[in-house]
Amino acid sequence: MYVCLCNALTECQVRQAAAGGDGSTLGVYRSFGTQPRCGKCIPMVQGILRDVGSEPIHAPG
Ligand code: FES
Repeated sequence: MYVCLCNALTECQVRQAAAGGDGSTLGVYRSFGTQPRCGKCIPMVQGILRDVGSEPIHAPG
């Protein structure tokens, strides 16, 4: 599914960028060498960042 139509970024791509980035919304766009255009996707990108940030990095034990 496309998250950002302006930059043709899929949810999968955004998820990977969110996991490997600096945790900022703009960082996600920067990792693709782009930036938000219309801005309609920003809430969805922020939701993905929250999702990724709330996942445990290492399983306990
Ligand atoms: S849909 Fe992402 S900037 Fe327009």
